[in-house]
Amino acid sequence: MAQPVTQEQLIQDPHPIYAKLREDAPVSPMQMMTFSGRGWVVTGYAEAREAFTHPALSRDGNKYFGALDTGLDERVRAAMNHHMLNSDPPDHTRLRRMVVKVFTARRIAALAPRITEIATELLDAVKPGEPVDIIDAFGFPLPIRVICELLGIPSRDQDAFREWSNVIVAGAFAGDKLPVAAKAMTDYIHELLARKRTNPADDLLSDLIAVRDEGDALTEDELTSMVFLLLIAGHETTVNLIGNGLYLLLTHPDQLDRLRADRDLVPSAIEEVLRYEGPLRSALPRFATADLELGGVTISHGDIVMISPLAANRDSDRFDDAETFDVGRGHTQHVAFGHGLHFCLGAPLARLEGKIALELILERFGTLELATELDQLVWRPSGLMRGLAALPVSVTLAASR
Ligand code: HEM
Repeated sequence: MAQPVTQEQLIQDPHPIYAKLREDAPVSPMQMMTFSGRGWVVTGYAEAREAFTHPALSRDGNKYFGALDTGLDERVRAAMNHHMLNSDPPDHTRLRRMVVKVFTARRIAALAPRITEIATELLDAVKPGEPVDIIDAFGFPLPIRVICELLGIPSRDQDAFREWSNVIVAGAFAGDKLPVAAKAMTDYIHELLARKRTNPADDLLSDLIAVRDEGDALTEDELTSMVFLLLIAGHETTVNLIGNGLYLLLTHPDQLDRLRADRDLVPSAIEEVLRYEGPLRSALPRFATADLELGGVTISHGDIVMISPLAANRDSDRFDDAETFDVGRGHTQHVAFGHGLHFCLGAPLARLEGKIALELILERFGTLELATELDQLVWRPSGLMRGLAALPVSVTLAASR
């Protein structure tokens, strides 16, 4: 059997490794950083879809997280882990139903003017002619401000969130910082919930406190975990959608020109960014609750399975010219937002933010160029995310401005 792939190998340049794995075995052994048992990585598209919906692959973190050595205190772990992405039906069904009641399509669509306002304000601060890290100046602050405002988190606390969330997403790569950040963030959420209980406002947090399902409210751990999930899922990924999107356009100038010539292609370009260099290298771990067959291998009860949307989305059995970045490709049923029960709840918000961000950048800047050498770009160390640590660019304003 081939040597298991390690997480470290996959950070800087995952695609050639994934391509080789996919060709050799679309379900291959993988060495996990925080799990001593057997791990697998799924790189084929068909196998990824099958794994996302396999009844013997559980996402119930509370039953199985004991197997992962995250070094977290029990109370902090409970306040972070009781959310829908960590549960199977019927808990998952109940938790998702309760959020869907308040996280409605109307509420998301109504955010468009405010997203445009925040994005415009951030871009106003970008000075033409001087190199700027567009992720720091725009890619990060936009989604964090949007999700914080949606939830009702005061703007003065948003920098702290950015810091905690960065550490938490780095996971095992963050070492000792992880338990400290996780505790700080859950303590903060507890305090915020207490304040919203006495002073409800017109925000998602207040609505989540009030929401009932067959008479039942969310428990305190479910509430803190839900906020935790929405905050982390709600911005870390979208940062990478914006960052990876700009990186792809900068490194594919023909596609950037095409988009400038036909702005109607923006939604299709967003889908292609999601497919070609999506924000998540890996979905969350699945735990095998029984022996099962997947992609020609036997996965045993107790093994952990990591599904890679990044790899699956480049499967040439599913996508013509899978290795070509083509902004006109359109919607392709990529699995960047997952598939099945846990399909991303925030996909409409992420698409809206991505579209507004890209449209405003195209409209405002006449030129957009990389202000560093390609080989100087560093990808953030994370077991799950695929995103650049920084993206220095230089811009000039469009003639119309
Ligand atoms: C481009 C941006 C985004 C990407 C690529 C993305 C991707 C994903 C993926 C792959 C999953 C499934 C994970 C799994 O099955 O292991 C997921 C689930 C989820 N996402 Fe997103 N996401 C994005 C943005 C957002 C935003 C903006 C929010 C919320 C405001 C959000 C909230 C969620 C939630 C709550 C779940 C769990 C759903 C469930 O368990 O039923 N995501 N996302």
